[in-house]
Order: sequence, then C-alpha cells, then structure tokens
Amino acid sequence: MDLTKNRIKALLARQSGDEIVQADGWVRTKRDSKNVCFLSVNDGSCLQGLQVVIDKAKLNDNAVLASITTGAAVSCRGKIVASQGGNQAVEMQAEEVKLVGPCPNDYPLQKKFQTVEYLREIAHLRARTNTFGAVMRVRNTLAFATHQYFQQNGFIYVHTPIISASDAEGAGEQFTVTTLPLDNVPKTKDGKVDWSKDFFGKMSKLTVSGQLEGETYATAMKNIYTFGPTFRSENSVTKRHLAEFWMIEPEMSFCDIEGNMDVAEEYLKFLFKAALEKNPEDLEFFEKRVQPGIIETLRHVVETPFAHMTYTEAIKALEPHNGEFEFPVHWGSDIQTEHERYLTEQVCKSPVIVTDYPAAIKSFYMKQNEDGKTVRGMDVLVPRLGEIIGGSEREVDYDKLLARMRQLGMNTDAYWWYTDLRKYGTVPHSGFGLGFERAVMYVTGMQNIRDVIPYPRAVGQIEF
Ligand code: 4AD
Ligand code: MG
Repeated sequence: MDLTKNRIKALLARQSGDEIVQADGWVRTKRDSKNVCFLSVNDGSCLQGLQVVIDKAKLNDNAVLASITTGAAVSCRGKIVASQGGNQAVEMQAEEVKLVGPCPNDYPLQKKFQTVEYLREIAHLRARTNTFGAVMRVRNTLAFATHQYFQQNGFIYVHTPIISASDAEGAGEQFTVTTLPLDNVPKTKDGKVDWSKDFFGKMSKLTVSGQLEGETYATAMKNIYTFGPTFRSENSVTKRHLAEFWMIEPEMSFCDIEGNMDVAEEYLKFLFKAALEKNPEDLEFFEKRVQPGIIETLRHVVETPFAHMTYTEAIKALEPHNGEFEFPVHWGSDIQTEHERYLTEQVCKSPVIVTDYPAAIKSFYMKQNEDGKTVRGMDVLVPRLGEIIGGSEREVDYDKLLARMRQLGMNTDAYWWYTDLRKYGTVPHSGFGLGFERAVMYVTGMQNIRDVIPYPRAVGQIEF
C-alpha cells in the first residue's frame, strides 16, 4: 500500500502529466470568479496547499461548487499541470470535485489573522492553521529522530510506569491518583487518609520522571532511554512549564558525567540537524513569521561545540550583573530562568553546560563531589529558553546515597528497590532528561510551551 502517493506533498512534487490523480483535504481558501474557481487544498502533509483549478464551463455543477467553503473537506480528481500563477510550480486541473464534508460559515478559522491565544481556545481546530501544522510536523520529526538517535546507538527503549509510588525528583510536585470516594475518604485512627483502602493499597502518584525505573534497566542493559509523558503540579504560570509534558531520559551504565555531557550534546545536535533536513519549508515559515534568524542559529549550533562552566564559575560571571536581575544571585542560590538566559545569551553566546551545582539545590540521587558541597549535576542551557536538559552522574555508593536521603527526610524503605542497585553490581552511571516541548520550542521559535503540544495541560487549563 502506498499511503503517501496521493498526499498533497507528493502531488506538489510531481511533474505535469496526463495521469488522473486524487487529492483529498480541507479547503483553506476559495477564490471565485465568473469562469474559474480556485481552491487551496491542504492535508497537513506539508505547509503549502495544492491549488485546484475548476473550469466552471467544464464542471457545471454549480450547486456543489457553491457549497464548497473554507474548512470543507473535499476530494478532487484531475491532472497535475504546470501552474500559470507564480506561487506554485504545479496545480491540479479539476475533472471532478466532491464535497465530502460541508463547513458552515461559523467555522472559526476564516482567513483573517488569529492570535495564538485565541487558537488555544479552539485547540481542536488549530492544527488546520499554517503555524500549528508546521509545529506538529517539526514535533513529529524530533520524536522520530529521538528514536533514530538512540536506536542507532544501541539503546533499548524502556516504557517506565506512569503511575508510581515514588517521587523521582523529591520535589513534592505530584498529582495523586486515587479511587477513594472524595466526599467520604476513609481515615485511620489518628485522622489521616487511610491509603491502605485505596486502589493500590498505598498512596500513588503520576510520575514526574521515569529516571529511577530507567536506572534499574540501565544497570541490566547498559544503555536505555525512556520517552513518555510526565506530570508536575508546579503551581506556576510560565511560558515554559506544563503540568503534562513529554520527556526523553537516556540512562547509561559505565558512564560518568563527561560521557553524559557528550551524549547530550550529540543528541541535541542530531535533533536540530534532523529538523533542518526534513522540515526546510516549515523552518522557513518560522523564520518569516515567528523567529527571524532561527535557521542560521540552528545551523550554527549544530556546528559549534557547546560551552562548559561550573556552577561556581557561572555565579562569578553573574554576580557583577546582580543589579540587572529580578533575583540577585550568590553562591548557593538556585539559578533561575533570567540567569540561565544571561549565561547562554550574554556570557557564552551559545548553548552552555553548567555542572557541579550545590547539593542543596539538586535532587537526592546526584553523585556527591569530593568537596562535600557540590554534586555532579549538569544542566544544558540554550538561548531564549534557559534550561532544556537536566541530568547528572548518579550517586552509586550505597552509604552515601542513604545518608543523603535520610538527611532530606525521605522514607528510604520505600526506595528499597532503588537503593538495591547500589548493593548488587553497582556501577558508575549517568543520565539526563530532555523536556521534549522545550526542544520543539527551541527549533520552532514558538514563544509559549502551550503552543507546541496538541492539548496543553497547565494550571486551570484542561479543556479538550
Ligand atoms: O531537570 P528535570 O527536573 O530532571 C529530571 O526530571 C531528571 N529525572 C532527568 C534525568 O536525569 N533523567 O527535568 C528535565 C527536563 C528539564 O530540563 C526541562 O527541559 C523539562 O524536563 N521540564 C519541563 N518541561 C515542561 N514543563 C515542566 N513543568 C517541566 N519541568 C521540567
Ligand atoms: Mg532541572
């Protein structure tokens, strides 16, 4: 079966010929004159529509023609011929036009310009716009390239659970999953929720990361990756946070932080290159309409080594500019988006990998450095966005890991299976997480993370 043959992308790539071909899609625009009618038909395979030219004398069912409006689904048959107009190389000379699904004129996507904010309110239709069609094609390319990169490097794709009893980041930003009746929650004698009565017999949550389970597979299969949805109940309204986002998490055994940084850099460059190669038309669109200079930036990033600095060096570079920041920094403070952007946009003028953060601002599982203060964490920062990747070498010393977990007040018993890895054949290992939507934002130049995922979930946003 060749399902691509009749896609608009394939039809536009044809030479003119006598073969009668079929084009199915949705009408983006209709231009009508006395003798001819022009339809622009789009099927999502590419940005450009196929111009279908209807000679009214030849195709004299004017009732059908009149009922074809913007947004209607149509099937057109005809020859592909060289186009008279300047906007396209070829067009279809219609022999037959069928109205498959009519579209009344309250269709919200009429030709006028629509803001992304408005389009978010009609997210079920926004994929029919140029912008969202292009975003989804780039997203598709980056997803496929992710599998390509890891598969060609011998990584095993592991499906880690979505419902979990642990908090992989220890940040307490989890959604609870329960079947308990909320208007009559069973309580224990001391008045607390009796989770033993719940579905799993334990309090359970949506996962914030597949890392911990990923580590268990990496210590069996050496190199693995996850690629799935993750959930965080961060109660912040920003342009780069979602409550549900997709994350790619590779985990590698016999690998230290140096190897981890190398893979992160190579993988990101592989993604950007894939978009440049597979979506040139879409990137031209983003260049013109969304983020001028984006193509050159991507090309440059692919060719240039990432910068490296330690957290301590980063603070030294930032401190003289404390006056310019909303939140001034000093050694020990968390690096926020404004600082991340300053480092990558002003100091390095390229993506930068920052390492060796203070233990206090990073997760419990990161390998503790010899200085007793910092951990072998690494964040990859990029211009416009700040953090795109977070990762680390993992603490693999049983005693040190347990001591750290206790220090943070974690229930170490609940993580028995995780700490077991440090008991049975423990090995240096490292990994990272790429926020998939951040990668899509970076490649497309889209300003708001809610516009690079089909149905964004964020505080107060759950329509569709
Ligand atoms: O830095 P984070 O929290 O790291 C982890 O989850 C580790 N378990 C990863 C690992 O080492 N395997 O998250 C990783 C990335 C961030 O760099 C960011 O790109 C993205 O996930 N991210 C979010 N993206 C959208 N919305 C949110 N609320 C996000 N939180 C993190
Ligand atoms: Mg992080």
